[in-house]
Amino acid sequence: MREQRVLIAGCGDIGTHLGLRLVADGAQVFGLRRTINQLPDGIHGIAADLADPVSLEALPACDYLFYTAAAKSRDPDVYRRTYVDGLRNLLAALPEPPRHLFLTSSTGVYHQHEHDWVDEQSPTLPRSDTGRLLLEAEQLALHSGLAATVVRFSGIYGPGREHLQRQVLAGIAAPPEPLHYSNRIHRDDCVGVLRHLLQRAEDGATLKPLYLASDDSPTPIHEVMEWLAQKLGVAIETRQPIRRGGSKRCSNRRLRASGYRFRYPDYRSGYAAMLP
Ligand SMILES: NC(=O)c1ccc[n+]([C@@H]2O[C@H](COP(=O)([O-])OP(=O)(O)OC[C@H]3O[C@@H](n4cnc5c(N)ncnc54)[C@H](OP(=O)(O)O)[C@@H]3O)[C@@H](O)[C@H]2O)c1
Repeated sequence: MREQRVLIAGCGDIGTHLGLRLVADGAQVFGLRRTINQLPDGIHGIAADLADPVSLEALPACDYLFYTAAAKSRDPDVYRRTYVDGLRNLLAALPEPPRHLFLTSSTGVYHQHEHDWVDEQSPTLPRSDTGRLLLEAEQLALHSGLAATVVRFSGIYGPGREHLQRQVLAGIAAPPEPLHYSNRIHRDDCVGVLRHLLQRAEDGATLKPLYLASDDSPTPIHEVMEWLAQKLGVAIETRQPIRRGGSKRCSNRRLRASGYRFRYPDYRSGYAAMLP
């Protein structure tokens, strides 16, 4: 890649790993967040609060903008500040329009709950404030006047995200009934997808406005937990429904048609890389 200037706003787990990859590719990467002392060498830290326009006054010009901020709680006010106000403030503060904006969103915008397959064309009628606010942020990005792409991640797992293993280690698993499909994407694939789309844009490809980013294999959650229990040598003692939004199956067909191949196409390959 030619030396591109990339601004990653909300440079946390995904943003930092993406940033390091892009630095290795030869890009100049700026990582914006409130606390920058955790950013690694190679990423230029910008200490700013996306919810506070005054703190966004001296931003560098960039070729590509990734908006990967995440709310720290499900409080609708925090969601609005993080996803909607923050994006609006940032776009208003940029000294020059970037060539492309990438916004990370979530499959939490879907309302489907009867094991339906969902893709980029599926209706989104979220019942929660958080889902509605994410949709508002998506619309803001897509109507910003910039070339923009929204990437909806399903449940992210990987290093540092061991919630499911902890439950299984405590002898807990979801019951087979009611059936509940889960959808996931490994942290490294989140980074891989964003880098892939950036490279496609760099190569002059026209990106779609929306991609659903989830691995190849939606799987009933009890099946994932039973597999983990077996791998960890744990007996399941308690069956407890796991609340993770509605039961649906996320299709990654559009992403795969764009040329992306998952490093971890299913839960077995992803968790196998994390197990002791
Ligand atoms: N977790 C999941 O399973 C999941 C599923 C679907 C989609 N996603 C989406 O994936 C994206 C990346 O998430 P992640 O896991 O990388 O999140 P993360 O590790 O929590 O990082 C988010 C970053 O946003 C920064 N941030 C939050 N509010 C800010 C503000 N007002 N001003 C400046 N920076 C702010 C935080 O840093 P400071 O606190 O230092 O400011 C943090 O570094 C997000 O868009 C998230 O919604 C996540």
